[in-house]
Amino acid sequence: MEEIIRINNLSFSYPDGRKVLENIFLSVQRNETIGLIGPNGAGKSTLLLHLNGILRTSAAVQVLGKEINKNNLRWIRARVGLVFQNPDDQLFSPTVFDDVAFGPINMGYSRTEVFQAVKHALKEVGMEEFEQRSPHHLSLGEKKRIAIATVLSMNPEILVFDEPTSNLDPRGRWSLIRLFQKLSATKVIATHDLELVQALCQRTIILNHGQIVADDTTTKILSDMQLLKNNGLAFEEIP
Ligand SMILES: Nc1ncnc2c1ncn2[C@@H]1O[C@H](COP(=O)(O)OP(=O)(O)OP(=O)(O)O)[C@@H](O)[C@H]1O
Ligand SMILES: [Mg+2]
Repeated sequence: MEEIIRINNLSFSYPDGRKVLENIFLSVQRNETIGLIGPNGAGKSTLLLHLNGILRTSAAVQVLGKEINKNNLRWIRARVGLVFQNPDDQLFSPTVFDDVAFGPINMGYSRTEVFQAVKHALKEVGMEEFEQRSPHHLSLGEKKRIAIATVLSMNPEILVFDEPTSNLDPRGRWSLIRLFQKLSATKVIATHDLELVQALCQRTIILNHGQIVADDTTTKILSDMQLLKNNGLAFEEIP
């Protein structure tokens, strides 16, 4: 086993002072696929933003044995690809091609390599036809797929997804789940989609009020109805 991410006692507050993450310890091994679940506002997105240094408050996060700091952000971001919850935070170019090519160009790929990387990434998300479209005029589900392609085009070792299946139609959702199954990278996926977790993740972490309340095999977590209910992850009976 090779530890690829280590979080050592991470606590975090946004500038308004409220504590959003509290004493997080986490060790991710290479090739794991981990589901990160928990109710709205639990801190999932905030935790993911720490994995490639978008949020950096302390030296608590290590990727491939290196503490994330301002001097190695480029190196980190070539290895950790993060897909935001909201695709509008990820897409900023006039065309889909430019957005998906942005990472490869930044990493110094040759022209041919950039073209190949873009074609391949768009094919993986089923959006080959969209190369010349404006990302701003796409539907939310289409934008989500393009946002995923912008990260796949860099072929990172670690893929971090925030709600990848929200707003996708059922066919798009399952084709994405199948795509994820084929990707060899280590994956951390924050989601409310428990079917995705069941289909993809061997390990599941429940976050609630900024704390890890469970970290176990997905089989154990998803079969513990009381645990799911306590954390807003299953329906309560309506009295
Ligand atoms: N930029 C910000 N400034 C201040 N507070 C924030 C900011 N972003 C998020 N928060 C707060 O931090 C807490 C955790 O938010 P976060 O987005 O990490 O939750 P989440 O688990 O991803 O929720 P969801 O399931 O709704 O996506 C929430 O209470 C939220 O209001
Ligand atoms: Mg979120």
